[in-house]
Amino acid sequence: MCPTKRPFLAVLLGLCTWLEPGKGSLPLHMNSMIQVVEMLESHYLDGNLNLTVTELARGLGCCDSEFDQLLLGEAPAVPPDLPFLSQEQRSFFTRLMKHQVQASSAEQGVVLLPDGTTVAVSPLMAGIEAGLKGLREMPLPPVALEPLLARTEPPNQTYPEPPLTIDVLYAVTIAKDLGMAFLLAQANESQVPMGPNGCWDSVYEPQNFTLLGRPSHLTDAFVNGALDGVILGAHLAGQAAPAAPLGTLLRQYYSGGGLAGDDQARSNFRRKNFVQLTKAGELEEQVARSLLLLRALPQTAPLFSGVGNEELLAIASQAVQEFTEAYLECPAIIPRCMWEARPYKGTPTQLRLPLSFVYIHHTSSPSEPCRSFPECAAAMRAMQQFHQDDRGWDDIGYSFVVGSDGYMYQGRGWHWVGAHTRGYNSKGYGLSFIGDYMHTLPDTFALTLVRDNFLQCAVRGAKIRANYTVHGHRQMVHTECPGNALFQEIQSWHGFK
Ligand SMILES: *[C@@H]1O[C@H](CO)[C@@H](O)[C@H](O)[C@H]1NC(C)=O
Ligand SMILES: *[C@@H]1O[C@H](CO)[C@@H](O)[C@H](O)[C@H]1NC(C)=O
Ligand SMILES: *[C@@H]1O[C@H](CO)[C@@H](O)[C@H](O)[C@H]1NC(C)=O
Ligand SMILES: *[C@@H]1O[C@H](CO)[C@@H](O)[C@H](O)[C@H]1NC(C)=O
Repeated sequence: MCPTKRPFLAVLLGLCTWLEPGKGSLPLHMNSMIQVVEMLESHYLDGNLNLTVTELARGLGCCDSEFDQLLLGEAPAVPPDLPFLSQEQRSFFTRLMKHQVQASSAEQGVVLLPDGTTVAVSPLMAGIEAGLKGLREMPLPPVALEPLLARTEPPNQTYPEPPLTIDVLYAVTIAKDLGMAFLLAQANESQVPMGPNGCWDSVYEPQNFTLLGRPSHLTDAFVNGALDGVILGAHLAGQAAPAAPLGTLLRQYYSGGGLAGDDQARSNFRRKNFVQLTKAGELEEQVARSLLLLRALPQTAPLFSGVGNEELLAIASQAVQEFTEAYLECPAIIPRCMWEARPYKGTPTQLRLPLSFVYIHHTSSPSEPCRSFPECAAAMRAMQQFHQDDRGWDDIGYSFVVGSDGYMYQGRGWHWVGAHTRGYNSKGYGLSFIGDYMHTLPDTFALTLVRDNFLQCAVRGAKIRANYTVHGHRQMVHTECPGNALFQEIQSWHGFK
């Protein structure tokens, strides 16, 4: 694939192959991965390959820890040499299987998705493998339970009836690493337990992904891959008939009309879909049980020295609470680098947090809602260009912008004074829905994302006060913004005055 921005130059000079020869030159994009998956599947069906895609992935080092081998079964020892893949495809597929974060903040084993977010491949593959094998409830091995019983029960007590089980699908995707992240952070004060997001060197030819802050064990890309792994695994495990090919499933989920034709069963809505799939209390139980198992396994046992049962349960509880707040209750916000923002002009002014106000806008122009990452990113660039070049502002005016693709987009963000509500820019955040909402409303999902997720998240993060006030732009300045229909709607929101 050529950089689409300069197709003429690229064709002229044959730059595509010349610039990045040899190893790893396929773009680290889900579309490249789906092509390789489809090729592997066709050879599996023809009998040229004796492993399924996920078995092969495990043979190549994905999800082959002691913990994973115990729950998913042993990974194939010697993967075939795959003569039908090009050298480029083989190295691409192989290097995606190991998720790693370097001290330099480079994150490996991740791909960019059509929706503008990034996933780690290994938890995704682990969830798919659990789903394909129908692995859900499995009894925890007695060795994991012994310390539990030693502390809480009289001696010589038999194991509890029914035996404690672990849900393999949750364990191998999210629960193990969530527990581990908080265990490690607790042992080392200078480690953060979760995040951050990152930036690709190029949205068109992604090769290197660099984190935007201090690396943790549980990066945003890992979380995305784990949530997708649970959603796809549960979908596969719930199917009576043989599943559609994996390539088809990945296309539906990442770039098509959604699983089983459900438009919301797509990566864009992973947070909502994960919440719907997961019973209350389920995640905490699975994290606690994963930690019990990790404590009993030779590879990981040393990390638990001195960690008793109560402490282990407390780690699980704190991990799930912080994870739920950060990743399930807050909206996913696409960072500036992903929509290819120009730099801020001049020196930004810092907001004094927490703020007391949120001002709701519509963009009016663009007048149509954006429903895909390329559309929303293009709208963001167009608005920034207009605000900087025609209005003479330093940057896009809004603090945050709401797409109809399931995501919010970072404008000036949490910390910098915007240019959205004349006279009040330092008092509140300016939030704008892309589209013209004089006569129609934004999609329900976009509305609830702001009303139920963004506002609460901002209160919890001490960005706005708990007694915040929501105003429509028209209450502050002579304007029709945010449109009659949207203004009517926000009058029913908590905090509207
Ligand atoms: C699969 O084929 C490879 C050779 O391509 C062979 O080494 C391996 O033993 C086979 N595995 C099984 C399970 O048949
Ligand atoms: C604690 O974490 C920091 C940051 O990740 C790391 O540089 C340091 O080596 C860790 N210390 C120990 C004792 O593991
Ligand atoms: C990606 O990073 C590696 C080092 O980690 C570097 O050698 C390579 O040139 C980088 N590629 C691009 C396209 O920036
Ligand atoms: C909101 O809460 C703050 C304290 O967090 C208080 O100082 C302020 O007076 C309150 N504002 C209103 C309008 O109640």
